[in-house]
Amino acid sequence: MDDLRNKYIEAIAAAADEAALEELRVQAVGKKGEVSLKMRELGKMTPEERQVAGPALNALKNEITSALAAKKAALADAALDARLATEWLDVTLPARNRRVGSIHPISQVTEEVTAIFADMGFAVAEGPQIETDWYNFDALNIPGHHPARAEMDTFYTHRAEGDERPPHVLRTHTSPVQIRSMEKTGAPIRIICPGRVYRADYDQTHTPMFHQIEGLALGRDVSMANLKWVLEEFFTAFFGTEVKTRFRASHFPFTEPSAEVDIQCSWEGGTVKVGEGDDWLEVLGSGMVHPKVLEAGGIDPNEYQGFAFGIGIDRLAMLKYGIPDLRAFFDSDLRWLRHYGFASLDQPTLHGGLSR
Ligand code: DAH
Repeated sequence: MDDLRNKYIEAIAAAADEAALEELRVQAVGKKGEVSLKMRELGKMTPEERQVAGPALNALKNEITSALAAKKAALADAALDARLATEWLDVTLPARNRRVGSIHPISQVTEEVTAIFADMGFAVAEGPQIETDWYNFDALNIPGHHPARAEMDTFYTHRAEGDERPPHVLRTHTSPVQIRSMEKTGAPIRIICPGRVYRADYDQTHTPMFHQIEGLALGRDVSMANLKWVLEEFFTAFFGTEVKTRFRASHFPFTEPSAEVDIQCSWEGGTVKVGEGDDWLEVLGSGMVHPKVLEAGGIDPNEYQGFAFGIGIDRLAMLKYGIPDLRAFFDSDLRWLRHYGFASLDQPTLHGGLSR
């Protein structure tokens, strides 16, 4: 019995895993295990022999069973220790520095302008950046021979050889969205259309891609006076100070009459300041929508009339945030973006103040 005991106690101590332990359990104390077989032999013994062997075998069985349990617990502890050692995590380590992105001034200004016009009841409309020449020109009363077509430095798309359709263009202004919106909702209508526009031009104040916001308000009696009020209201909200405007008679094919609008500014100290001084800065084109344009949009000019305007967003951003060179907007220089960018939670709202 001592041999049996030593054999199993040693084997249990040496077992490498739970499977080995289970095998030993079956061999020793399973139904047909060595200890169990020995217990069965008790029946053939004399009562005296049995009195000695019975308790001894029971003790042996108990000893092996508890050795198995203890080893099992030890193996589990070791496994847990090994896992804890590999999954170790130092929660006191300082967090890794992550670069925080910023909102581009163009996006910020677009949101600001949108918030102001939304407050005056204007909805936002959008159109494609690749336009047909009909939407970009003809529908806006700019026929093929019109000098405005040549002046716009238009980018034309390529047509396959033999394809006689007129080429598409990269829209040169946001005005085609006027037509698309009239077609879609008819009159009355009050919308602004922010977006990218393209012209083949490049210097300190021109980039081949830039941004505009188109405005359109049509009704039965919408007038030039309404245009003037809306624009003055807009500039005052946008610049956060009362801004005088100057309407200069001008010409656009899609409006009659047409006006270019200047805002009051000063150039003192070499920088522009809006809302003070005796100088004027041109910021937008506008006018009463031409009857031919209304017709192109499917609206009866005898029933409806209204105003339209187009503002350069980039120019507004430069003026408001003192950014001197337009080209820097599109250089993607991280230092510039960090300097002029806005925090992502600085959402412009009228009640929260438009800018930081
Ligand atoms: N589309 C013109 C441009 O890009 C701007 C403009 C002028 C828009 C007068 C208008 C308008 O809606 O009425 O230069």
